[in-house]
Amino acid sequence: MKKTKIAILGFGTVGQGICDILLQKKEQLKKQYNFDFEVVAVSDFNNGNVYNPNGLDISQMLEEAKAKKKFTKDIVKWDNITLIKKCNADVLCELTYTDLKTGGPAIDHCKTALKSGINVVTSNKGPAALQYPEMNEIADVNNVKFLIEGTVCAGTPVINLTDGPLAGCEISKIRGILNGTTNYMLSEMEKGMGYDEVLKIAQDLGYAEADPTGDVEGHDARGKVTILANVVMGASLKISDVPCQGITKITFDDIQKAKDNNARWKLIGSVEKKDGKIIGSVAPEMIDLSHPLAGVMGATNALTFSTDLLGDVTIVGPGAGRIETGFSILTDILKIHNSSLVC
Ligand code: HSE
Repeated sequence: MKKTKIAILGFGTVGQGICDILLQKKEQLKKQYNFDFEVVAVSDFNNGNVYNPNGLDISQMLEEAKAKKKFTKDIVKWDNITLIKKCNADVLCELTYTDLKTGGPAIDHCKTALKSGINVVTSNKGPAALQYPEMNEIADVNNVKFLIEGTVCAGTPVINLTDGPLAGCEISKIRGILNGTTNYMLSEMEKGMGYDEVLKIAQDLGYAEADPTGDVEGHDARGKVTILANVVMGASLKISDVPCQGITKITFDDIQKAKDNNARWKLIGSVEKKDGKIIGSVAPEMIDLSHPLAGVMGATNALTFSTDLLGDVTIVGPGAGRIETGFSILTDILKIHNSSLVC
């Protein structure tokens, strides 16, 4: 069995999450999917860059990272671009921090990998929200894949749902809860917890972005709306085309008023075809308790797809978290494995 060689850029919440899953499921993945792997390269701002063409010791690296220590084996002095170009990976997992303004270094990482004939799997919203068509084109030219399941609703299948089981349906509207951090915060604030305290817990639980203003001001949901509009509904929206309001102005009074009116605040993202145009938006809405979205609590996400052949199809599942987002990376790696691009 040929082993899929994996490179990981960013060994934070998601990078460690996917490694934990790979270690835990190694035997099951071999038996069930004929899938075996080696992690050959890892790069991390805090822990250092390491490379071993025959496979790194990821158990030790996980211990070192959890103890906030630098990596001690297989260290290389290459920068990320050199690491991508020199490594023998079949798949690059781009898991560095999201920058929705410029795409950050992630865009360069993805392009370098695709141009080097390496498949890219990412939960980083920057490259997907800012340059999806360009990334896809580079991937096509180089006969590799650019897969982004983890960019929307963590591992809850959204992109793969519309690409697979819902293929053939025309989707006219997508609407729902797209940010786990703010949904968790609103749920806990309703129980009486303070804004700062609950935001800190959301960060500790690995829900929030490196810079949590992206969550509370709605930019994270706005990036996801842009991705859904462009990837699922074929639009060419820029992030700035999507009006966006976060939860920062919602007070305890507002939460109490909603309660008194049998309602609950939710940060709602939507994409809709209107008069031949596709428009997106992000804003808090007071949702009646009888509505299904009102019952979606914690870091859970929920999305309703309005389709021509099936009517409404709703998917509810984890929207953030270490293992939950790590799973999205696994599912896309397996998609590449099953498409026989690697083995
Ligand atoms: N910060 C994001 C959220 C992580 O809370 O939904 C998943 O994209």
